[in-house]
Amino acid sequence: MSARVVVLISGTGTNLKALLDAASVYDYQVVGVASNRTAAGLAYATDAGIDATTVKPRRDETRESYDARLADVIDVLAPDLIVLAGFMRILSTGFVTRYTGKLINIHPSLLPRYRGLDVHERVLASNDTTSGASVHFVTPELDSGPVLVQGVVPVLPDDTVASLSARVHAAEHKIYPLAVALILNGRGRLQEQHLVFDQAPLETPLRAHFNLAGDLTTWPVTDPPPA
Ligand code: GRF
Repeated sequence: MSARVVVLISGTGTNLKALLDAASVYDYQVVGVASNRTAAGLAYATDAGIDATTVKPRRDETRESYDARLADVIDVLAPDLIVLAGFMRILSTGFVTRYTGKLINIHPSLLPRYRGLDVHERVLASNDTTSGASVHFVTPELDSGPVLVQGVVPVLPDDTVASLSARVHAAEHKIYPLAVALILNGRGRLQEQHLVFDQAPLETPLRAHFNLAGDLTTWPVTDPPPA
């Protein structure tokens, strides 16, 4: 039976779409999607006949109470992996530790650089020549968990936030399903807060490099290749 994935979103859900599109290639199933607000991306789930739930915070609700309700929705689905795909809420330490090793996020920068918001603005202001996205296990500190996979893209001198964001987004759509597959097939995992890949410590993230056309130019792992 293929592994079970739950995806949490808040917005457009293009990473959810990429995860759905690659599910048959990598042999996992998205068994449910949840959002913290009305999100356009939920349509990708309902179109695919997948359970889609909106868990809106109640007035004056504590973070712990909200997270407990969210966990109830997740646990019924018995996921092997919970995938944050643009889920715009800080999660409590209790929630994060409950799912340690089973909770991942994608962030649109080459972590540890540019944690938090307005990443592309900051990349452009720093005149960086590369940027990208990072898939990391979630730990209580925001955008700080161990990074398994990164997608690296060029930054052009005349890039705008829109052009750079589109290039990074396209790389995300390739690396996120790939990272999910690497975790679900047991090759990449978290062991006592450290990454293990193919039974050995992983000191630096697995880096997929993309050119301006969005084509993959280098990737250090042969199996599975990016879909
Ligand atoms: C992505 O840029 C991701 O890195 C960030 O939120 C965005 C979600 O985009 N965490 P989408 O909703 O998947 O299109």
